[in-house]
Formats: sequence, C-alpha cells, structure tokens
Amino acid sequence: MTEKKRDELITQIKDNESDFIKFIYERLGIVIKTHQTHELHKTILNAYHKFNEEPKEYLDKLRDCQDHSPLLEHLISGVTVGETYFFRDKHQINLLKDKILIDIIQRKREENNLSLRIWSAGSATGEEIYTITMLLHELIPDIDKWRLSLLATDINMESLKKGVAGLYGEWSMRSIQDYFKRRYFTQFNKEYSFSQQLKELVHFDYLNLNEDTYPDIFNATNAQDLILCRNVFIYFDADKITHIMKKLNACLMPGGYLLLGASDPVNITGTDFIFHHHDGLVFTRPQTNDQPIKIIKTIATEKMEPVPPVCEKIDKKVIAKPEPISNHLDQDKITEMLQSTNWQEIINMIDQTILNDSNASFLLSIKATALANLGKLSEAERICQSSLALHSTNKDMYFTYALILIELNQLTEAEKLLRKTLFLDHQFVPAHFQLGLLLLRNKQHEVGLKSLRNALVIAKSKDTQEEVAGSHGLRYGQLVIMLKHEIEIHTSSGNINYVDQNA
Ligand SMILES: C[S@@+](CC[C@H](N)C(=O)[O-])C[C@H]1O[C@@H](n2cnc3c(N)ncnc32)[C@H](O)[C@@H]1O
Repeated sequence: MTEKKRDELITQIKDNESDFIKFIYERLGIVIKTHQTHELHKTILNAYHKFNEEPKEYLDKLRDCQDHSPLLEHLISGVTVGETYFFRDKHQINLLKDKILIDIIQRKREENNLSLRIWSAGSATGEEIYTITMLLHELIPDIDKWRLSLLATDINMESLKKGVAGLYGEWSMRSIQDYFKRRYFTQFNKEYSFSQQLKELVHFDYLNLNEDTYPDIFNATNAQDLILCRNVFIYFDADKITHIMKKLNACLMPGGYLLLGASDPVNITGTDFIFHHHDGLVFTRPQTNDQPIKIIKTIATEKMEPVPPVCEKIDKKVIAKPEPISNHLDQDKITEMLQSTNWQEIINMIDQTILNDSNASFLLSIKATALANLGKLSEAERICQSSLALHSTNKDMYFTYALILIELNQLTEAEKLLRKTLFLDHQFVPAHFQLGLLLLRNKQHEVGLKSLRNALVIAKSKDTQEEVAGSHGLRYGQLVIMLKHEIEIHTSSGNINYVDQNA
C-alpha cells in the first residue's frame, strides 16, 4: 500500500471513529475506551487488507450484516481480548475448590439430585470451564453417576473453535500444577491436548450477553447451579452490567452462585443477590447491614412454594382450582409473562387459570417449560406425561418433554420424542436443531450436522423477525445465526475422532 493510500485510510478511520464506537456499543454492548482506539484503528485498517473494504464501506456493511458475518467476526476479534488461562486467580480457584463446588455438591447429594449445571459466560478459549471440569473430576469420586451440564459461551467464534479443539500452548498452562498437567493433558511438542473424555462433557456455544436470548431451556442457560462470568464486565458500562446481572440472576437456581472476576465492576440493582464474606477477597464496600461486599454473590431467593401436581386435575379434563382468577389468559398476557422470565409467577398464573380442552395442552407446555427453567425437572416431566396422555398429537409438548429429557441425560428417549415431533411437523425447526445437537453429543457427527443443516434451510425460509415456535422469544434471524455458528464450530473442530453410527 502506498504512503498516500495509508494516510487516506487513517483520515477516513478517524472521521468514522465515533460511529464505529457507537455501532460496537449497540451491537455488542462493548464500550471502547480512549486507550483502546489504537486497537480499533488497527482492526479497521486490517479489514481493508483482508476484505478490501474502505472504513466507511466497512461500517455500512457491518450495520447490515448478521452476527455470523466474517466482517463482524473480524471486528469482534479485534476489540475483545480472549486472555485466559487454566486455574486463573489462585484465590478464586481455592474458593471454588474448598467452598463453592463442595457446597453445591454436598447440597445436591442431600437433595438426592445428582446433577450439576455450570456455565462459563464469556469463556474465551475454554480454559475456565475445563478448569472446573478437572476440579469436578477430582472432587466427585462417583462422577459417572452424575448428570453434568457444562456450558461455555462467547461471542468470539475463533475462541469457541479453539475451545472445542482443546489444544493449548504454554501460555495457557502457566498457572497449572504439574499434577493436573500430567493427569489431564497429553503433550505434543509445545502444545497440550486436553483429555478427550473431559472435553466431551463441555458444550461450547455462541451467545452474546448483550442480547435477550437467556435464560432459556432452548440454549441450556436456565437453572444453573454456578455461573462464572469473570473478566467480562470490563467491556461493559453500568447500564449493560445492570441488565446482564438481572439476566444472570434469572438464570440461577435458588442457592446458586455467580462468580465475577476479582476486579470486575459490580452492580446488583434489580437482583436478589446477596454478598458473602470470604477470606482473601478484596472487596470491602459495606452493604446496608454492614455486611462486607465480596466478589462472590450467592443468590438466596425465598424457598419456592412446591407446585401442586396437575395430573389428577387433567384426568378430570376440567381443572378446578380454589378461587381461580380467570378462565382465560390472553395471548398478549402470555407473551408478556414469557418475556418477564419470572418462571414462578408464570406457574402461579397458570395454576390460577381454569384449564379446559382448548387451552390445557398449550398452557401445560408453558408450565412444563417454566418448571424446567426452575430446575424442577421431575415435576415438569410429570406434566408432560399427563398432558400427552390426553393430547397425543401435541408437538409442542413432545418437544418440551424432549428438552427436559435432554437435561435429565435420557438421550435415547429424548431422540425418540424429537423424531415424534418431526413426524407431526417436519417443518418444526427447533426439533431439527435440538436433534442435531443431541446427535453431535452422541458422537454421530455427520447425521448431527445434517439435522442442523435441515434446521438452517427451513429457518432461512422464514421471516427473520418472526418468533420461532416453541422457543419463547427467539426470532428466526437469531436462530439462523445460532445454527450457522453451531455448524461452523462442529465442522471445523476436532470432531474427526467421532464415529458416525448412523451414516
Ligand atoms: C478476558 S476474557 C475472559 C475469559 C474467562 N472468563 C476468564 O476470566 O479467564 C473475556 C471474554 O468475554 C467475551 N465477551 C466480550 N463481550 C461479550 C459479549 N457481549 N457476550 C459474550 N461474551 C463477550 C470476549 O470475547 C472474551 O472472550
């Protein structure tokens, strides 16, 4: 490039700088601070070399592009720092090992509920979730009997792909003890490959924390026991942090933990988080009751009232509750309720509605979803079974039931239900999507990808703004992006070891 062209591009970058910054904030929630503009300039300049787009054209195309676009991915890689490593922050790791994980595991054993749901939100290349996986393996001698849902999400596709591949350099290994290195990694020259067995326990997924796609059983972000969102809030301003904290709050089970990075900004407005003192942590801002503020937030919500079983009521077809408020819930009210993600309120409202032949199967499928989002899987399962006994062609219920069985790790049964859903409605995109994920999880790589591609073809034929049936708020445009990401992650990842049983 000539000196003249370079100067011209730099002038154009400076002229459009504030529009780029505004775009990044609106789309990703990320605030570009003054000291980061140099990186931004470099990223825009590199976009010229990579895509032959001048800064102004690049910005125009970004405004119109979907999340999956290489143009946007280039920008995301340039403005996010995926800095992470195994066993990051010794204090927090000790806290996880000696207190948080022990506490959750013990509580689950007491409840006779051998299941764990852990989410690394803003996972970068996966070192954080794999650290948790190793700790669980050490802490739970009978781990084979447990149902584990370990989720890692990020907006940086390159990072997610590296996470799936599980191949790391020395820099990622700088804080790891030899014991863990020897036990869980295989070394190839200067690279370390993470244990295949443990790697398969983790699901990597694209998720923009700035979008309203969580909590949702659909992407398994619901009913978490522990969320790690460390060193991610550094990107956001106070408004976004407040919004994201509320949403993470809604993703947690009562008694669940949220762990932020030691120096992350904190804002708990509108949440029911409480803070716990713990040794070795730096935050000391006093709360109203003089409790010191700490970086571990334990969600302590009121114990939920047990939800009355509905099976006997359904058997009578017309369900009579004492003093029902209404025998009619209108569509707008339902939509509003679902968007609020206040699952207990949704359940209460449905319980106070007289169910009849025309509304029962629909409302019960929502109630089953709400119960599942609260982690009450057995109750949710019971509702699905009872409802299906009466409405054997209700595809929504088959689908909801399948999602519940996936959470219960009953994959064979879940697969049958997804196929039944598709038998009833072959155009039902969410069932193709979930079937694809399930098959990939079962190491049936080719057929899994085929199901995802089926979902993509149908989703693309829909209006991008139309809500995806069975998803409670997700738009087809967003689903197309999720599907493309999922296909990309699994196409270019280390899944070549997979044996395809159905191919
Ligand atoms: C510094 S890394 C933190 C990795 C890991 N949590 C840790 O503490 O080691 C921050 C990650 O947040 C991700 N991130 C930034 N904005 C995001 C958003 N809007 N949604 C999801 N992830 C985001 C970045 O891509 C990056 O991978």
